[in-house]
Amino acid sequence: MLKAVQNNNADYENLKLLIQNNLDFNCEHYKDSHFKRRIDVRLRATNSSTYHEYLRLLQTSDIEWDFLMETLTVNVTSFFRNPEVYDIVEKNVLPAMIKSKRNGLRSIKIWSAGCSIGVEAYSIAILLHRILGDEIKRYNIKITGTDIDKDSLLKAQKGVYSDAEVKDVHDDVLKKYFTVDGKKYIISDELKKIVSFKKQDLISGPKMRGMDAIFCRNVTIYFQKELQEKLYMDFYNALSNDGFFVMGKTETLIGQSKDLFSPFNSKERIYQK
Ligand SMILES: C[S@@+](CC[C@H](N)C(=O)[O-])C[C@H]1O[C@@H](n2cnc3c(N)ncnc32)[C@H](O)[C@@H]1O
Repeated sequence: MLKAVQNNNADYENLKLLIQNNLDFNCEHYKDSHFKRRIDVRLRATNSSTYHEYLRLLQTSDIEWDFLMETLTVNVTSFFRNPEVYDIVEKNVLPAMIKSKRNGLRSIKIWSAGCSIGVEAYSIAILLHRILGDEIKRYNIKITGTDIDKDSLLKAQKGVYSDAEVKDVHDDVLKKYFTVDGKKYIISDELKKIVSFKKQDLISGPKMRGMDAIFCRNVTIYFQKELQEKLYMDFYNALSNDGFFVMGKTETLIGQSKDLFSPFNSKERIYQK
């Protein structure tokens, strides 16, 4: 039976301060409702009945900091998440991008912002590989995944996934782009060559430039509205002309960027600069 959580505001503010100082996680930019819900998950898991009790636990337990970070960042993801979006990406977005490169420098830069364990970046790499076939050698492709969660990034870099994590991946894709080692599925070197990962905070990290597409899906839902508006402008500025912005199915363009981006496929939340 879960203990009822009794809390007071001063303890909550102290907890936020401690998290801010220790985790490099900028609490103020996240929706309070999201933040409280995530912390409550850890309170229940540790059987703490107040924020104060949980604060004391954090001061004595290193491992709890790891669990808290994992809970705060919500790393839920999957290969080809919302397949209908990837369908449009494969049929329309990537072919348009490739066509625009035929006569110039064959360089393609794609950013998976809030990449979690990397499967979004690898899904895009698989599609590009599938479309270009042998022609891929003639392109300089860079897919960059960024996230604030170092454990997720480590997993992304390794590119090793469990059978549960690849359960929705078609057999032909599994055969072509993974090697199987017991129950582990390892991303092929061909894909790893074009995908890289780095730790970068969307809120305070450096600004990106010259992107042909940005995928930022299921990340900004947790952010305050003002920050969402600012980030969408950052994405607009990070894209080359005609570049694509792919949002999550539950996210909506707001603020100035709403007038600047053109809808490419509104249903799938795909926009173009
Ligand atoms: C739910 S996952 C989304 C993964 C993937 N984009 C997808 O749609 O499947 C959200 C990711 O956003 C990351 N994230 C949250 N705040 C962030 C920030 N300020 N900067 C970079 N990444 C952040 C989390 O660590 C988490 O891995």
